[in-house]
Amino acid sequence: MKQTVLVIDFGSQYTQNIARRIREQGVFSEIKPHTVTADEVKKISPSAIILSGGPSSVWDEGAPSLDAAIIESGVPVLGVCYGMQLLVRMLGGEVEHSDGREFGPAEIEILDGGGLFSGIRSPAAVWMSHGDRVVRLPEGFVATARTASAPVAAVRHEKRKIFGTQFHPEVAHTPGGGEMLSNFLFNIAGCEKSWTPEAFIESVVASVKERVGSSRVICALSGGVDSSVTAALVREAVGSALVCIFVDTGLLRLGEGDDVVRMFSESGIEVKRVNEEERFLGKLKGVSDPEEKRKIIGREFIAVFEREAKSIEGAEFLAQGTLYPDVIESASVPGAAVTIKTHHNVGGLPERMNLKLIEPLRELFKDEVRRVGRALLIPEVLLNRHPFPGPGLAIRILGEISAEALDMLKRADAIYIDEIRKAGLYDKIWQAFAVFLPVRTVGVMGDNRTYDNVIALRAVTSTDGMTADWAKIPPEVLEKTSTRIINEVRGIGRVVYDISTKPPGTIEWE
Ligand code: XMP
Repeated sequence: MKQTVLVIDFGSQYTQNIARRIREQGVFSEIKPHTVTADEVKKISPSAIILSGGPSSVWDEGAPSLDAAIIESGVPVLGVCYGMQLLVRMLGGEVEHSDGREFGPAEIEILDGGGLFSGIRSPAAVWMSHGDRVVRLPEGFVATARTASAPVAAVRHEKRKIFGTQFHPEVAHTPGGGEMLSNFLFNIAGCEKSWTPEAFIESVVASVKERVGSSRVICALSGGVDSSVTAALVREAVGSALVCIFVDTGLLRLGEGDDVVRMFSESGIEVKRVNEEERFLGKLKGVSDPEEKRKIIGREFIAVFEREAKSIEGAEFLAQGTLYPDVIESASVPGAAVTIKTHHNVGGLPERMNLKLIEPLRELFKDEVRRVGRALLIPEVLLNRHPFPGPGLAIRILGEISAEALDMLKRADAIYIDEIRKAGLYDKIWQAFAVFLPVRTVGVMGDNRTYDNVIALRAVTSTDGMTADWAKIPPEVLEKTSTRIINEVRGIGRVVYDISTKPPGTIEWE
């Protein structure tokens, strides 16, 4: 039976880390906002509850709170940072307000070696986040750790399974954090390691099978990890009742369309390939605004997909590779988020076409998708492929798109990726790609003057694509790439390397 650890979110930037750390230990975890009610929690029937940190002070007006019945339900609870202070306050202790906030490395002295700290040596390095201070513990509680500046750095109830840490066990800067979480999950809450790719596949396959019955399922294949794993999972469940549609926009990387179709056909999945390069290039003619490009591609993609899907008889379901980070209801600070780039997918299709949605990856984080893919024997090359934007190379040709520019870009990009792979750097980089710049510069080749275009090389390291640093690719690799591009791609006379971070730059140029 799948056990669930419930992570209640108070707006911390680390909430997803908590959920991931728990899953890495082999226990399923789910995130809910702090407004979750005791009844909802009861339905989830969690084996343990973790209260996240958050940016608020318990003294703030309208500070996020929690339905008290959740704490009283007898389920083991661990409060982290804000979560600990909230626990202390709700159970009758006292938290003193402070205007300062201390954030960073600290050392705790462990006062009580059992419970969370079993097997951890004192003093231990931790990542502290500490503004307000616990000055009086609620009845029945003892302090289990302290630091030089915080006399109460961790707490536990003497009889009930309620624990708190002022520091963050879920971040890498707390080296013993994994062990503390493991103590909480297995020794304290009695969880079992039941969250494995194999167990996940088994349960998803059974439920998709039951839902689909004898109808057919269609899936939009993009060549990326998410849609590939989705297709492979649905295939396990419904066999040949799955039909994949692969819309080739002509905006993919060199040879990618052929690779995708070959790989899937070889594994027995029916792929309907639709070549629509002309249509896409036609609609994009004369368009140079990036958002306009995205809109056109999104719209045309849906139109083509809709047309193709209608021709598949008996299709009642649409399988889509939505991931957990897209479905989490977060407690994060409300406010106007500015659209920097609209990221298109096939959203909106199911309603228009009257299809029922199957989203087998809704519970997974990206790294888990890869593990599931591995268990389904999807080739490593595909699983470890760098992320690729939906609008494809259209947003890597700055300004207006032409067939010639597209061709040059594809070839330059293939050379770049080839050199990065040869240098053993591909898996260390989040994303690497070439960008076509519509500027012409002067050069000499042989005895002739040239007046050719520029290719910019971009490579970034990142953990989630939200922030990124430029990759420090060795000069020899850049040199080889540049020489090859200028020699092998006619029309390119200059190669430059992008050394901007995100923020303020973005990963893509458009
Ligand atoms: P930026 O450029 O915003 O990119 O730093 C962050 C990540 O998102 C990808 N990206 C897109 N993905 N449709 C997509 O599906 C888009 O329009 C789009 N724009 C950017 C980008 O490749 C990077 O991984």
